[in-house]
Amino acid sequence: ATSARYENILVDSPKPGVGLITLNRPRALNALSSALFAELNNALTEFDHDSTTGAIVLTGSEKAFAAGADIKEMKDLTFSDVTNINFIASWSSTIPHIRKPIIAAVNGHAHGGGCELALMADILYCSSSASFSQPEIKLGIIPGAGGSQRLTNIVGKSRAMDLILTGRSFSGVEAERWGVAARCFESAEECVNGAVDTAGKMAGMSRVAVRAAKEVVNKSQDLGLREGVEYERKTFHGLFGSKDQKIGTLLALTWPYTQAD
Ligand code: CAA
Repeated sequence: ATSARYENILVDSPKPGVGLITLNRPRALNALSSALFAELNNALTEFDHDSTTGAIVLTGSEKAFAAGADIKEMKDLTFSDVTNINFIASWSSTIPHIRKPIIAAVNGHAHGGGCELALMADILYCSSSASFSQPEIKLGIIPGAGGSQRLTNIVGKSRAMDLILTGRSFSGVEAERWGVAARCFESAEECVNGAVDTAGKMAGMSRVAVRAAKEVVNKSQDLGLREGVEYERKTFHGLFGSKDQKIGTLLALTWPYTQAD
């Protein structure tokens, strides 16, 4: 992976198996322009197809993960324009189809579409300096990239209404307390390093099992419990056809393996 082709993002591989995408539009606090999102989709697809990559970390700067959709790009669009171009449909065209785990490492501002992008990741890590919000109501609009659905699924209706109807911010510490973030670190550096470490661990697991695990957890968001459990069992059975299952269960019978973190 190389950053050379990109103007709004950086791509890197900080450790074996880990793809790192850094949003890099500092002068606009990583506002998610169409150009930036096209590059992000491209980089995600490349890492997904790259056999050396096992998991992907998505981050921004210490100051901003992303300050939302690009307001300058958005301000003159009419109803006809947004429906004709199917505005921000590209935000959902690729990410839901990425099969490798995506960990968002969120520091600084994550507002509007920035918060929604973070919520699209499989795992969200943040630092205590992170500030999240869905401020669209202040612009006379509403979240347009899944925020009203994903945030509500996580924090519940009452808290989601409280946040989305006022546009107020919540901190990284609150995000962790409410289950929006899996972990909240003390500094931005620890947050990104923590995400890279976790991605590295996942990259060291059976690829076929990690893919299956991501798929079944995501199914829990769409299916009822009975169908979800059924789907899980079928997928579980399928893994018995993999070599990794044969090697993994054999190794699990040896003592040090079960002691390992
Ligand atoms: N779009 C375009 N440019 C943005 C931007 C955005 N969302 N957010 C910040 N910028 C730009 C600013 O215009 C400014 O550029 P100039 O220097 O050229 O004026 C630069 O980034 C730095 O911003 P500030 O000077 O405002 O920085 P700050 O530290 O004082 O404030 C902030 C930070 C509180 C995040 C503030 O920038 C802010 O409120 N930004 C807008 C946040 C927002 O409303 N986002 C929601 C957008 S709507 C949406 O996302 C729709 C959806 O659901 C998909």
